[in-house]
Amino acid sequence: MQSQPLYTTRYGRAVVGDAFALMGELQDESVDLVMTSPPFALRRQKSYGNVEENEYVAWIVPFAKEVFRVLKQTGSFVLDLGGAYRAGVPSRSLYNFRVLLTLCDEVGFHLAEDFYWFNPAKLPSPIEWVNKRKIRAKDSVNTIWWFSKTDFPKADVRKVLAPYSDRMKKLIQDPESFYQPKKRPSGHDISAGFGKDNGGAIPSNLLSIPNTDSNSSYLWLCKEFGLERHPARFPAELPAFFIKMLTNEGDTVLDIFGGSNTTGFTAEALGRKWMTFDLRRDYLVASVFRFLEGRPVEVVRRILSALASDDANVILEDVVCNLANGSNAKVTRVDLIATQEETRQMVLLEEEGKYQARQSTTRRRRGKPPA
Ligand SMILES: C[S@@+](CC[C@H](N)C(=O)[O-])C[C@H]1O[C@@H](n2cnc3c(N)ncnc32)[C@H](O)[C@@H]1O
Repeated sequence: MQSQPLYTTRYGRAVVGDAFALMGELQDESVDLVMTSPPFALRRQKSYGNVEENEYVAWIVPFAKEVFRVLKQTGSFVLDLGGAYRAGVPSRSLYNFRVLLTLCDEVGFHLAEDFYWFNPAKLPSPIEWVNKRKIRAKDSVNTIWWFSKTDFPKADVRKVLAPYSDRMKKLIQDPESFYQPKKRPSGHDISAGFGKDNGGAIPSNLLSIPNTDSNSSYLWLCKEFGLERHPARFPAELPAFFIKMLTNEGDTVLDIFGGSNTTGFTAEALGRKWMTFDLRRDYLVASVFRFLEGRPVEVVRRILSALASDDANVILEDVVCNLANGSNAKVTRVDLIATQEETRQMVLLEEEGKYQARQSTTRRRRGKPPA
């Protein structure tokens, strides 16, 4: 593509600009997976702007048509859409279902499978219907539409096997004594082969992933350098699931509404080529923190000042992306922690709601009365 990236890594590039225009620079059938979470049709506006529910389908269709064009025949388009209520009434907007129907009926996508992302950590909302009047349950599930260009997109669930249940582990250890082969009332013929160890269980289309990142290097460095953290990040486990299942190493993953570049970071960690677009330069500037885990403060500062220049095209060399560390791990950079230790600890602990508790424990240990 011709547009200059803001930064590049070994496998990817983050580019500031309008996703529709930037996709126009990509060749037909050149991308394996588009994984994205657009602005939702929310009543409560996010700082990056949201589209009204009655204009939503018209807004997203041009992007979807470009996605269709740039996807390979075997490619997939995974679209995360949060649910929303209609204005002023306790009934749900159907916008995410309208998007589903229109993308299949008018754009030509197939619905490979509908997924549901359950975020157990989601706060109750809207306050009026859930907290105050208590007439609606907490909404903690996003719809994730997995679209494909054909009926047989590239996919292999063996790459995303779930851990076996304890019951299944026992069955695998001793299939004969634990399970008698028989026909089930449902008609399924469960043979002894059912007890074979396949390395894990077939995952379901309900993905239970808490969105609880309060301690990543990304958040830590945003705080440290006074940059706005993205207000609607998804957890790395979400793109990781689809990237693993739907692509191979070396394939190309695109996030057209990239935000804090969770998708690019995840793709890098998994050895996939990636491109991330976002309209907001400040979000992509801060997203560089994802790739700077463990770097000395001076290096981070130098990279940030290079990104501030209008024609920045920063090459990040030797980035180490570890999914286990990058999204949730505690920051261990000694040089950052050493200075202003108390302030930083406070920020982290406050985020977890533990600061007060810790203060009183310390006072007790020092033999002082509670504050
Ligand atoms: C829900 S956020 C994505 C968050 C991302 N998944 C993450 O984990 O950080 C949607 C993003 O779309 C961006 N956006 C909105 N309209 C856009 C457009 N036309 N082109 C590119 N980006 C756009 C917003 O700036 C926002 O950062």
